[in-house]
Amino acid sequence: MGPCGALGLGLLLAAVCGAAAELHSLRYVHTAMTDPGPRLPWFVDVGYVDRELFVLYNSTGRRYVPGTEWMAANTDQQYWYGQTQIGQGNERSVEVSLNTLQERYNQTGGSHTLQLMYGCDILEDGTIPGYHQTAYDGRDFIAFDKGTMTFTAAVPEAVTTKRKWEEGGVAERSKSYLEETCVEGLRRYVEYGKAELGRRERPEVRVSGKEADGILTLSCRAHGFYPRPIAVSWLKDGAVRGQDAQSGGIVPNGDGTYHTWVTIDAQPGDGDKYQCRVEHASLPQPGLYSWEPPQPNLVPIVAGVAVAIVAIAIVVGVGFIIYRRHAGKKGKGYNIAPGSNPAI
Ligand SMILES: *[C@@H]1O[C@H](CO)[C@@H](O)[C@H](O)[C@H]1NC(C)=O
Ligand SMILES: *[C@@H]1O[C@H](CO)[C@@H](O)[C@H](O)[C@H]1NC(C)=O
Repeated sequence: MGPCGALGLGLLLAAVCGAAAELHSLRYVHTAMTDPGPRLPWFVDVGYVDRELFVLYNSTGRRYVPGTEWMAANTDQQYWYGQTQIGQGNERSVEVSLNTLQERYNQTGGSHTLQLMYGCDILEDGTIPGYHQTAYDGRDFIAFDKGTMTFTAAVPEAVTTKRKWEEGGVAERSKSYLEETCVEGLRRYVEYGKAELGRRERPEVRVSGKEADGILTLSCRAHGFYPRPIAVSWLKDGAVRGQDAQSGGIVPNGDGTYHTWVTIDAQPGDGDKYQCRVEHASLPQPGLYSWEPPQPNLVPIVAGVAVAIVAIAIVVGVGFIIYRRHAGKKGKGYNIAPGSNPAI
C-alpha cells in the first residue's frame, strides 16, 4: 500500500495525493506504534520510489533491506551498512518521540501511533517540492514549511516541538536534506530502477452502460497501466463533462500496474453522444472510446408494420448485427481512435 492509503490525513493527503504531474517521487514513511499487535514490529520504515516500495526497515530485523531487485543489484554492503545506521537512529528517536507525546497528552497507556512522512518530488515543470510531516493518532501534528523555514503546529500540543525544532536548527537540516540529499538519492534510485520504473504499459479500456430508474450510467474503466499518472474523462458531443463525472481514484493492482474508473450519468438514449477519453504515457495520442449499446430490439417496431417492411427490416437488421459483431471483434469490445477522431 502506498502512503496515500497509509495516511488518511488532510494535511498529508493534500501533499501526497495532489494531482500535480510528478515525474519522480521519493518518500519515506515511518510508523511507530505503542501496541503493534502480536509478533509485529513496533517500528516500520518504508521507502518508495515512484510509489514502489524499494527499501524497508523494521524494529525486528533492525536493518535496512532492499525491496526491489534493482536496488539489490545496484548497491553494495557499504550502502546497506550506512542505511542501517540511519534506520537504527530513526528508531531511537521515534521511541523518544512516542514517550514525549504520551506525556504531553497525559496518556498513561492505550494504543498510540506516530507517523512521519518526508520526501521529495521532481515535477514535470522542473520544480522540486519537499515535505516533512508528522501525525499522531491519525491527526496532523506538525509539518515543515520549506518556503518560510518554519514548522506549522497543527495542534496546541505541537507548539513545544515547533519551538524546539526551530531553535535547534531542524529547519535548516530539513531543507538541506530535502533539497540536496533527497533529490540526489531520488535521481540515483531512478537510474538504478530505470528499466522497471521507465516501462510503459498500456491501459486496457472498457466502456459499459447500465440503465436504472431512468438514468443511464456510463462507466469507463482503464486497467493494467503503468506508470500511475492517467487522465480519464467523459466527453459529451466532444466537450469535457468534468462536473458530472465521478472517479474511483487510481488504485494499485497486485502486479505493479494500476486501474481506475470514471462514471457519468446520462439520459437514456444519449449514450452515443458520449465518449471516454484516456490520456496516458503509453499512448502516443489520447484514446477515445465509445459505448456500444446493446442491439436495438426490433420486435416491437416491426409488430405493427406491413409484412414487406418486416422482411426488409429483418434483412437490414441481420446485416447490421453481423457488421457490428465483426467490428466488435476487431476492437476487442472497445474502440480506440487517435486524437479527436470519434470512434466508430
Ligand atoms: C522486518 O524486516 C525483516 C528484514 O530485516 C524482514 O525480513 C521482515 O519481513 C520484516 N517484518 C515485517 C513484519 O515487516
Ligand atoms: C495533563 O494533566 C495535568 C495535571 O493533571 C493538567 O494540568 C494538564 O492540563 C493535562 N494536560 C492535558 C493536555 O490534558
